[in-house]
Amino acid sequence: MTATQEMYNYKVVRQFAIMTVIWGIVGMLVGVYIAAEMAWPFLNFDVPYLSFGRLRSLHTNAVIFAFGGSALFATSYYVVQRTCHTRIFSDKLAAFTFWGWQLVILSAAITLPLGITSSKEYAELEWPIDILIAVVWVSYAVVFIGTIMKRKVKHIYVANWFFAAFIITVAVLHIVNSAQVPISMFKSYSAYAGVQDAMIQWWYGHNAVGFFLTAGFLGIMYYFVPKQAGRPVYSYRLSVVHFWALIFTYIWAGPHHLHYTALPDWTQSLGMAFSLILLAPSWGGMINGIMTLSGAWEKLRTDPILRFLIVSISFYGMSTFEGPMMAIKTVNALSHYTDWTIGHVHSGALGWVAMVSIGAMYYLIPRMYGREIHSVKLIEWHFWLATLGISLYIVAMWVSGVTQGLMWRAVNADGTLTYSFIQSVQASHPFYIVRFLGGLLFLSGMFIMLYNILKTILGVKPIEAPVTAPAAAH
Ligand code: HEM
Ligand code: HEM
Repeated sequence: MTATQEMYNYKVVRQFAIMTVIWGIVGMLVGVYIAAEMAWPFLNFDVPYLSFGRLRSLHTNAVIFAFGGSALFATSYYVVQRTCHTRIFSDKLAAFTFWGWQLVILSAAITLPLGITSSKEYAELEWPIDILIAVVWVSYAVVFIGTIMKRKVKHIYVANWFFAAFIITVAVLHIVNSAQVPISMFKSYSAYAGVQDAMIQWWYGHNAVGFFLTAGFLGIMYYFVPKQAGRPVYSYRLSVVHFWALIFTYIWAGPHHLHYTALPDWTQSLGMAFSLILLAPSWGGMINGIMTLSGAWEKLRTDPILRFLIVSISFYGMSTFEGPMMAIKTVNALSHYTDWTIGHVHSGALGWVAMVSIGAMYYLIPRMYGREIHSVKLIEWHFWLATLGISLYIVAMWVSGVTQGLMWRAVNADGTLTYSFIQSVQASHPFYIVRFLGGLLFLSGMFIMLYNILKTILGVKPIEAPVTAPAAAH
C-alpha cells in the first residue's frame, strides 16, 4: 500500500466505484427491457412483476439512485479527501453510508416489482425505506461536511461547493416530499393534498434533476476535467458565479412540470420565467467546462476518457438549452405527454450523467487499485458505442414525440380529431425499435467497461506514475 493510500480512505471510494459499474449495467438492462416492451408488448408475458408500469420505476430508481448515486458517493468521497488534504471524517460512518445505500437499493429492487409504491415519481419507495434513505443521507452529509471542516488547506475547492449543495438540498427535498401518513407497513398516503401535493412533488422532482442529476455531476466535472486535461479550470471566477446563480435559480423552476394544471397560472408563469433564466448559469458552467481544454484540444484525439468528459458537457449544454424551450408554455402544450420529454430526459441522463460518470470511473478505478488501465482501445470502443447509442435514442424520441404532439392536436374542418390515438401509437412503433437498438448499443458499451475494469483490477499492470497525477486543480 502506498503512502497516499494510507493517508486517504480509498476503500469506500473503491466500493462505490465498482457498484457504479454494476448498478449501471443492471439499471440499463432494465431500461433496454422496458424499451423492448414498448416495441413488443407481449414481452411482459402477462406476469405482473414484468409489467412495464412496475419495471419502469425500477429502471428510474436503479439508474438515478443506484448508478448515479454510487458515482456521486465515490467521486465526492475521493474529491473531498484529495482537495482537503485530509482523511475522510469517519471511516465507520462512511462504511455505514455504503452498506446503508446498498440496502436501500436492494429494498427498491424487491418492492417495486411487487407493486409496492407511493406513486410519486422518483420518490416511489414506501415509508420504511424513506426513513432509511433519510438516515443514510444525513450520515453522508455529516461525513462530507465533517471532512471539509477538518481540511488541512484554507481554500474549499469549487467541486466541493457543488457536492455540498447537492447533498444538503437532496436531504431537504427528500424529507419534505416524503412526509406521509402510514396506514400499514407497506402503504402510506402523502401528508399533502390536491394541488399542494402536486407542487411539492414537482418542487422535489425538478430539483432531483437540478441537484441530484446536475449539481453533483458538476462537482465531478470541476474536478475530473481539469485533472484529465492537465489544465486549470478555465475561469475560477466564472465557477463561483456559476455556482450561486445555478443553485438560486433551479429551486424556482419546478412548476414547469405542471403547465395547464390546477396550479395557479401565475405560479406556472413564474416556473417558466425561472426556467428561461436557468439557461444562463447552465451555459456558463458548460463553457467553463469545455474551455478548460483550451491549449489542450489535441488531447481529444488520443484520450478517450477526455472525450467521454467533453461529450458529456456538450450534452449538458444541449439538454439545458432544450429544457428552457420546453418550459415555454406554448412549446410545452406540444411536448408534454409525448416522447419528446423522454428524448430530453435521456440526452440529460445518458448524454450528460452517464457519460461524465463513465469518464470519471475510467480515471478513478485504475488509480484506486494502483493499476494501469487494461486497454485504452476498449475505452475507445465504449465511447463510440455509447455515442452512437445515445444518438439513435434521442433522435428516435424527438421524431416520435413531435409526430405524436402534431397528430394529437390535428383537427378536421368540422372540429373532429384527424387521428385516433391508436394511429399515433402505430406511427411511434418504428421509433421504439430504433430506441431499443440505441439502448442495446449503450448497454453493450457498459459490458465492455465491466470487462476492461475487471481485467484492470485482476491484472498485473502496475501504474507507473504515482497515484497523485500532475494537475492544475489540487
Ligand atoms: C441503456 C440505456 C437506457 C435505456 C434503453 C432507457 C430506456 C428507458 C425507457 C424505455 C423509459 C420509459 C419511457 C416511457 O415511459 O415512454 C425510460 C424512462 C426514464 N429513464 Fe431511461 N433508459 C436508459 C438509461 C437511463 C439512464 C442512464 C438514466 C439516468 C441517469 C435514465 C433515466 C430515465 C428517467 C428519469 C426516465 C423517466 C422519464 C420520464 O418520466 O419522463 N435512463 N428509460
Ligand atoms: C436548464 C435546465 C433544464 C430545464 C429548464 C428543464 C426543463 C424541463 C421541462 C420543461 C420538462 C418537461 C416537463 C413536462 O412537460 O412534464 C423537463 C422534463 C425532464 N427533465 Fe429537464 N430541464 C433541464 C435540464 C435537465 C437535465 C440536465 C436533466 C437530466 C440530467 C433533465 C431531466 C429531466 C427529466 C428526468 C424530466 C422528466 C420529468 C418527468 O416528467 O418525469 N432536465 N425538463
